[in-house]
Amino acid sequence: MIELVSDGVSFQVDVSSGTPAVVYWGPDLGPSNRNTDLAALTGDGVPQSNIDEPQVPGVWRENARGFLGRPAILGHRDGGDWSQLFTITKLESSGTTLLVESVDATAGLGVSVCFQMQPAGVVLISQTVTNVGLDPFDLGELTTWLPLPDHAVETMDFTGRWLKERQPQRRPIQTGTWAREEREGRSSHDYTVVQLALTEGAGYQDGSVWSTGLLWSGNTRHLVERLPSGHTSIGAGELLLPGESILSAGETYAAPTVAATFSATGIDGMTDRLYRWLRSRPEHPSTARPLTLNVWEAVYFDHGLTRLGELVDAAGEIGVERFVLDDGWFLGRRNDSAGLGDWVVDPAVWPHGLNPLIDRVKAAGMQFGLWFEGEMVNVDSDLYRAHPEWIFQAGGRVPPEARRQQVLDLGHEGAYTHVLGQVDAVLSEYDIAYIKWDHNRVLTEAAHFGGAGVRRQTAAIYRLFDELKRRHPGLEIESCSSGGGRVDLGMAAHADRFWTSDCNDALERQHIQRYTQFAIPPELLGTHIGPTRSHTTGRVHSLAFRAITALFGHAGIEWDVTETTTVERLELASWAAYYKRKRALLHSGRVVRVAQPDESSFVHGVIAHDRSEAVFAYVQLSAAGGSSPSRFLLPGLDPDALYRVRIVESAGAAHTLQQRAPAWTAGIEASGLGLAQIGLRPPILLPENAILIELERL
Ligand code: DGJ
Repeated sequence: MIELVSDGVSFQVDVSSGTPAVVYWGPDLGPSNRNTDLAALTGDGVPQSNIDEPQVPGVWRENARGFLGRPAILGHRDGGDWSQLFTITKLESSGTTLLVESVDATAGLGVSVCFQMQPAGVVLISQTVTNVGLDPFDLGELTTWLPLPDHAVETMDFTGRWLKERQPQRRPIQTGTWAREEREGRSSHDYTVVQLALTEGAGYQDGSVWSTGLLWSGNTRHLVERLPSGHTSIGAGELLLPGESILSAGETYAAPTVAATFSATGIDGMTDRLYRWLRSRPEHPSTARPLTLNVWEAVYFDHGLTRLGELVDAAGEIGVERFVLDDGWFLGRRNDSAGLGDWVVDPAVWPHGLNPLIDRVKAAGMQFGLWFEGEMVNVDSDLYRAHPEWIFQAGGRVPPEARRQQVLDLGHEGAYTHVLGQVDAVLSEYDIAYIKWDHNRVLTEAAHFGGAGVRRQTAAIYRLFDELKRRHPGLEIESCSSGGGRVDLGMAAHADRFWTSDCNDALERQHIQRYTQFAIPPELLGTHIGPTRSHTTGRVHSLAFRAITALFGHAGIEWDVTETTTVERLELASWAAYYKRKRALLHSGRVVRVAQPDESSFVHGVIAHDRSEAVFAYVQLSAAGGSSPSRFLLPGLDPDALYRVRIVESAGAAHTLQQRAPAWTAGIEASGLGLAQIGLRPPILLPENAILIELERL
């Protein structure tokens, strides 16, 4: 038995049956259990009318071992070699890492699996398949599967669409396979980011959670399987299109790594582990996340120095630190029907180039950021006119347009070099700290000379981002895809920020941000104050509500602030100052969410790891059920410490309807235990209002 342990999580792999089998993944059982024969403790008996030996399917779940669930490897060589039986050839273990290599010489395949326990208790699992035969092997699937205990009885994942990403769905696990597949050629708005299995009723702070998340931005599959035997497993892997991975002799397919997270302290515990792992990576942004102004909802395609210059001045006055020029600056891009593919500054709009604007941005003390959508091309572009053969297409057909654009197949070296070259030239000519990289359509018929090309395209965008960063040290990249269509753990290794959603409506954002933050830390999620009347829902929200909502992320503004009143401008400036004061906490602390007795409110907060300070939001989503809204608890503080509790109104006060506010709202001192057990009675807020509560340990 090989055990990988860290931070209260134990992951145990038995190799005694000749194949690596994960026999335990859960709380660290401590030294007294180290001598337990776990294989015997966890092993099955043999039912009647069954395979005559207890089944140990192992990581590769070979049918040859009698296993009848979905195998890890699906594939064949000219109709043969679809059934394998692997024998271990190499085993290396180093305390936190286990590598197992196996081979089936008859089927001509070699496989490897590497488990790496991270200090935060997250296990990173990487698998490969190598064709050691002579003829090509057509690999259809390599899934990373983990067994779940029988008391994991519920599953939770996320669905969504444009403007409504990450909507939770929770259901009992029943016999059969629950599959979440994404075939858009990007992770997609519907992408779950992580899939959870939970003990019955597990909540934010209680119950056990097992989750898997794929480090991949292309097509994906997340699975939960319960077999008629009662055995339950959770799996994740790349969704390969037919023929997408035909391995020639000696060739290896490396599956995207899976992050597997166990928490004995509910969903918040899972989030905490994922954040601590993500934050420990060298590529995680380490500088203060600059307050950003993105011009999209302020000007759309209406570019020009006069208008944008005024926006720069207003942004500078408010305290913005990064000014991002969105879509519309490049050749022929007067609307969304032309220009994609021609990444040169349009002299018709910017006769003196971008420097007059950039100089003004820098003079106002801000960094400059610029929008690209390099994987796309409009038919009305010089690029398409020169190279119509560079788009994804099958059967000689031109795929249906989406947002009037086609997808550039970066598998053509010429296309890749064109995009890299043009973007690099712009970054070399101008002082650009940051690029927002968009991806506004799904991939259909993503064929490269007839063969499926999503995997190659996904690898190409990673390569391109990494190359741009290598050539331009310090460059930051935002991953945007019509909002949150490419938010995933794979892109987190190449980008520094995600555009969470095109919906800046604060009410919708409460939901989208809450659930995206299950796996993605706030400092990676763009959260902007949008216009008073939301452009995507028509709802009108107070600045106070929008500001509290946007505070819990990598904050910014996406609003024509030149039209703001003096009071609004002052409130924005005070909110900007507050964000700067609190971002160290907001971007490093532990996120907690509180289950409320009814669905009319959300409560969430960020607590410093040393519990010295915290910020919570009470959000009235709709009218409270009772005339006195339910008290809300503030878990996670130091139970023995006394905290100063106060409401902060950095961008104005919430709207209330009450004769008198609860006494504590004037400021109070309370113990961490009292706040966790008794909680606070909220003021009677009008729907779609929120209050921000700051806590400081005394
Ligand atoms: C979609 C993005 O999500 C928006 O923020 C904006 O950049 C537009 N594309 C520009 O076309």
